[in-house]
Amino acid sequence: MAQIYARITGTGSALPEKVLTNADLEQFVETSDEWIRTRTGIRQRHVVAEGETTGDLSYRAAQIALEAAGVKASELDLIVLGTTTPDIIFPSTACLVQHRLGANGCAAFDVNAACSGFVYALGIADKFIRSGHSKKVLVIGAETLTRMVDWTERETCVLFGDGAGAVVLEASSEPGIYATCLHADGAYKDLLYNPVGVSAGFNDEPNHGVRIHMSGREVFKVAVKTLDSLVEETLQAAGMEASQIDWLIPHQANLRIIEATAKRLNMPMEQVIVTVDKHANTSSGSVPLALDYAVRSGKVQRGQNLLLEAFGGGFTWASALLRY
Ligand code: UT7
Repeated sequence: MAQIYARITGTGSALPEKVLTNADLEQFVETSDEWIRTRTGIRQRHVVAEGETTGDLSYRAAQIALEAAGVKASELDLIVLGTTTPDIIFPSTACLVQHRLGANGCAAFDVNAACSGFVYALGIADKFIRSGHSKKVLVIGAETLTRMVDWTERETCVLFGDGAGAVVLEASSEPGIYATCLHADGAYKDLLYNPVGVSAGFNDEPNHGVRIHMSGREVFKVAVKTLDSLVEETLQAAGMEASQIDWLIPHQANLRIIEATAKRLNMPMEQVIVTVDKHANTSSGSVPLALDYAVRSGKVQRGQNLLLEAFGGGFTWASALLRY
């Protein structure tokens, strides 16, 4: 039987209208544009308006991806949405978006793998297509991380932004996703986490204790090391050499981490998609936002090989090597 591949046939993304620059942040927290730019590469981030949700951004990104693919929402077999900031506890944001799109009846669920959420969702969707279960799948990565940011804490509030990206995957005899690698190690929970929730309970701190705790320097070190071995593993799984990769599309947390991964692959920065300057760290939104930017700016062309990777709370880390 011929091999079935999952091919990206359309991409889309959505950002909130409001932009918060580093200079804006200087007005209310003790930081500087210079510190943020040199330590992270970030110049600005988008921030949701009052009442604007992860589902709203997802819906907008999904509509654009479906249009680009020429696929009607009613044709979808599956929606997988990576997020750690769902609109409500349940139903899942995937279900909310499914109904707004008019894709009622297909399978729909969220994946919480923190910043690796989109790449996890892509890996899952790939398996659904390869197994023959699904033919047309919508994969979304979307976050409103600024909803859980403590705007008085300079160590974290300068790092994050909001946004969503989406792709339509379709079953095809042409490649396609060659390989995906998904990993997690819960032993690292205390280095990056949000401590409250339904089952553990909320507390009397501002915003009910909902805020990001991150040991930045430690996360940085593990991220660089882990991504090094992840890209090696992915190349091996796909049976490819680093020289065959046309574009690296990494998670956009820190330009220094991105540069380290590119160096490991011996790739010049001209072959790396960088959006961290404009979007900051949008967690699950970051990779699909960067992918959509790469496609729409004409950088990524059909037939090229893309390496997508992400690292986040859990820790989780994940990659996908695909022909666009
Ligand atoms: O997406 C999930 C994965 N997350 C990541 O990959 C994030 C990984 N970590 C990082 O990107 C970096 O560690 C950070 C950008 C978070 C921090 O950069 P760093 O070079 O590791 O700085 P640091 O935490 O070691 O802090 C250096 C100094 C400290 O002052 P002292 O102790 O040297 O006097 C901080 O208090 O910078 C200070 N600092 C700031 N100064 C101005 C921390 N945040 C700020 C700030 N503005 N916003």
